[in-house]
This record gives sequence, C-alpha cells and structure tokens, in this order.
Amino acid sequence: MTPRVPYLSARLQGFGTTIFAEMSALAVRTGSINLGQGFPDTDGPAAVADAAVAAIRAGHNQYPPGAGIPELRAAVADHQRRFWDMELDPESEVLITAGATEAITAALLALCEVGDEVVAFEPTYDSYRPAAAMAGATLRVVTLQAPDYGFDPAELTAAITPRTRLVLLNSPHNPTGKVFDEAELDLIARLCVEHDLLAVTDEVYEHMVFDGRHQPLAMRPGMAERTLTVSSAGKTFSFTGWKIGWACGPADLVAAVRTAKQFLTYVNGAPFQPAVVVGLGLDDAYFGEFRDTLAAKRDLLCDGLEKVGFEVHRPAGTYFATTDIRPLGFDDGIAFCRSLPERCGVVAVPSAVFYERPDGGRHLVRFTFCKRDEILTEALSRLEALS
Ligand SMILES: Cc1ncc(COP(=O)(O)O)c(C=O)c1O
Repeated sequence: MTPRVPYLSARLQGFGTTIFAEMSALAVRTGSINLGQGFPDTDGPAAVADAAVAAIRAGHNQYPPGAGIPELRAAVADHQRRFWDMELDPESEVLITAGATEAITAALLALCEVGDEVVAFEPTYDSYRPAAAMAGATLRVVTLQAPDYGFDPAELTAAITPRTRLVLLNSPHNPTGKVFDEAELDLIARLCVEHDLLAVTDEVYEHMVFDGRHQPLAMRPGMAERTLTVSSAGKTFSFTGWKIGWACGPADLVAAVRTAKQFLTYVNGAPFQPAVVVGLGLDDAYFGEFRDTLAAKRDLLCDGLEKVGFEVHRPAGTYFATTDIRPLGFDDGIAFCRSLPERCGVVAVPSAVFYERPDGGRHLVRFTFCKRDEILTEALSRLEALS
C-alpha cells in the first residue's frame, strides 16, 4: 500500500522543531511570559504601519509584480549601498520574497541539484535542514563551540566535499548571537573561491549588532559574483508577521531564485511592500535607536539571568541570549524548558533543537529579549524561584 504520508513529508516531520508550537501552547495554557519565539511585543515605526494602512486604502491589494514592486527593489538596493557599500541593479539583482524563509528555501531549491551538499554552521536556524531536504540536498554542519562560538577551520575545510554546492551562512547568528568576524569571513570566502562554491547569507539581524560590526560575506574579495544576500523587514522594523524579505546578488542567481519563488508563492504582501519602502528610507536615527534599545534589553536580560545563576553567553548581536543551565543544577535543556512554565511562569527554548549532533546544546537554553522592559523584569523576578 502507498504510504499515506510520503517520504519527504515524513522526513520533514522528523526535523520537528514542533518545540516552538509546544512551548507557545504551554505559554498560553500556563499564562507564562513567552521568551521562547523571537517576535517583538511592540509594533514597529508608526510611519511604516501607517503606510501599510494607506496602501490598503489606496487599493494596493492585488498581485504585485513577480520580482516585487520597483520602488521596493530600488529601496533594497539603496539600503544595501547605504549600509554595506553594496552595488546592485534593482531591476535584475533584487528579488522580493515572502520573508527570508522563502528566500532561503527558494535559493536552495533553485541552486542545488539532488544529492548536493550545503555547508552550514551548527546550531542552525530551524528552517535550513528541511529546506535543504526539500531541494534533495543535505546539510553538513560545522559546529560553533560554546561559549564563544568559534569554529575549527579544519572542521570547515573537512566539511567541503566534491558534492558541496554552497555555504549557507547566518550572521548575526541565531540562536547564539555570534557575529562572524573579519578573519572568519575571510576564511569562508577563501574556501568558497577555492572550491568554486556559491554562498547564501541570512542577514536578517543585520541591524542588531551591539559588539563588533556586521559585514556581508558578499563584500569579501571574490564573493560578490557568487553570493546571494538574504534579509527581511520583519526583524529590522518589528513587523515579523508581514513576511517581506529579499534576496539580492548576481542576476543569474536572482533569476533562478525568482523562478522557484514563482511556483511557491508567486508574489506576496502587496500592501506591505510600499510600507517597507518607507521603513528602508528611515533616517540613521531610527536604525541607531533600534540597535541601542535592543542593546539595553540585552544587558537587562543578561545581567538578570546571571544574577539568577545561569551562565550567560552574552550575544554580540540578534535578540537572543543563550544560557548554560548547569550552574543551576540542571543538565537537560529540553526537560528544563518543559518544566519552566509550571515552575516559574516563563517560556524559553532548548538550544538542542538547533543541533543535529545527538548531545549538541544539551545544557543550553535560549531566551529572547525583544520584549518590553517591564516584561523582561517580571520574567526575571519569576526566574528568581530557580536560585
Ligand atoms: C536566522 C533567521 N533567519 C530567518 C528568519 C525568518 O525570517 P522571516 O520571518 O523574514 O522569514 C529568522 C526568524 O526568526 C531567523 O532567526
């Protein structure tokens, strides 16, 4: 008999970061503060929200152009030049997608052959492995070692095989908060050039760097012609539900991703696209304040977690902090997170779900700090019950 759940979907279920759904349901059932999933509890800039409302009222409600509205493609190109010195032709080198998630999945579908390998760093954002599987490719991971999340160059070199098609790099990195530094980017770039690999970079946290600075891999020597840079308005403007993202880079790569997108969503977010144009055009003060506000939240949460007794791996970027629970007398992050709502009324995410290695991230737990200060303070006071 033909199985009712065919191979691919059964396999994808096995990648189950159903833990997010489980934790969010637990948060609701127990009335807990949810510091699990990364979404802000305040809206982004009013001017951007107003622009979306105005766009709906002005009738921007039908299918937009397949590559995205020209104004948004131009705004993305301007943004890449303004912040990262990247030159792009908005006509052929920018594609608007349904969030970064679609950009990454469409990129893997478009750029990988069945049997290809994709090199990524573990812990990995949860969509990477299933996206590779949907493309018939497999992920080979290089481990970022806690607590500093450096990696062994030899491990990266060894991860590259004749089947390697591309490197999928996330910096600033979720869940660790690591920001890849110049030497690391140079090494990755050198290996990409040497082995003629493509790169897909997930830079959704590009405007959340507190220590060091964000540097797109595409700007390293030899990389512009082989890199697809992905980002999203969801994180930068705190409208994660709008799902407006983009992929930019060489025209042939962008055209390939556009073909995959055409048969995934075709187009997306008509009224949100003009609103994101407004967001991308905000002045430097917006981007600076956004970063500084989050840096203060990072310190509020991390200082508090340290006081409670966690070992805190203070992130250089993103809105996540990883903690080691062993100093509090626990050692299994999954069990810890399952019991935390009942115990303290707080939800967090076990980092183990971001690892492929059986024991990877076992003692680690991730908290988000993109919440109002009073919510973070209340969560910390509830967590004091652990001390
Ligand atoms: C590393 C990373 N990439 C991509 C995404 C998803 O981005 P989007 O909502 O634009 O699809 C997230 C969201 O948490 C993320 O952390």
